[in-house]
Amino acid sequence: MLGAATKKQKRSDSEPGAETGRGEMSESRPTPATSTEAAAVPGRRAKTIEVRAVDLFYGDFQAVEGVTMTIEPNKVTALIGSSGCGKTTFLRSLNRMHELTPGARVQGEVTLDGEDIYDGRVDPVAVRRLIGMVFQQPNPFPTMSIYDNVAAGLNLNAKKVSKTQKDGVVERSLRGAHLWEEVKDRLDKPGGGLSGGQQQRLCIARAIAVEPEVLLMDEPCSALDPVATLAVEDLIAELKNRYTIVVVTHNMQQAARASDVTAFFNLDETGKPGHLVEMGPTEEIFTNPKKKETEDYVSGRFG
Ligand SMILES: Nc1ncnc2c1ncn2[C@@H]1O[C@H](COP(=O)(O)OP(=O)(O)O)[C@@H](O)[C@H]1O
Ligand SMILES: [Mg+2]
Repeated sequence: MLGAATKKQKRSDSEPGAETGRGEMSESRPTPATSTEAAAVPGRRAKTIEVRAVDLFYGDFQAVEGVTMTIEPNKVTALIGSSGCGKTTFLRSLNRMHELTPGARVQGEVTLDGEDIYDGRVDPVAVRRLIGMVFQQPNPFPTMSIYDNVAAGLNLNAKKVSKTQKDGVVERSLRGAHLWEEVKDRLDKPGGGLSGGQQQRLCIARAIAVEPEVLLMDEPCSALDPVATLAVEDLIAELKNRYTIVVVTHNMQQAARASDVTAFFNLDETGKPGHLVEMGPTEEIFTNPKKKETEDYVSGRFG
């Protein structure tokens, strides 16, 4: 069940991936991982998202129409398409954030490994924890320490986490986000003091601290300089070993570099809903798309 985190923790005990996923992190750890620490951070397996006939509305306005797609685990799926075609709206429907907008509505079905995330019995907060989100603008709590920024999600989700366990999760998450070496000597300093690229990696560390199964990223590099962008792209490529990843980008080089699968969205005219035009292996979408619309867009002949 989506609401039952404890069940998922048990599963990790026998999962070889849980071990290997952390191998590189224990190498240079100052303290060895204890068994309690390992238990607090279950290895979860990435999951498949199935989207069927999804329509998304803001009040009477339909922003997205009829999207059906399968998002595969351990792959990076890029969502591309011109501004306003509904990429952000669609992304936010994958972890029930869309409904947080007053008047917003979802029709259709979204399942995570077969479980309907919109089922009335499912807790939307649990969905958002399992399916984490990284936003366009890095949004750390600026005055909160780097350490507390990463631990923030844990505080909400597990009331009784020991200091040792927390230290372990914070270090592992920062290592996982390729940020540990840069911040390990100033964990008590405010998150707002980091550079833009570091802040975005801090937000990724915060998202992975709660061990999600899916990571949704909405143009995670759009506020970053080219060097920071490459660092985050490298990180995304590595994170797919553990998570199902969906990245919205309007940067086509980025989609080409960083994704395995690309989904192209478009709209017929302003005011009409956006829809999925086609989806396939990234290389195919960029070199040999099936639809002319896609070809025009990826070859820059759009608009
Ligand atoms: N909160 C909102 N209320 C009403 N309309 C919205 C809201 N957010 C986005 N929209 C509209 O939905 C459509 C899709 O927007 P969006 O998902 O942000 O597109 P993209 O991310 O592809 O640029 C646009 O027409 C946009 O104006
Ligand atoms: Mg957007």
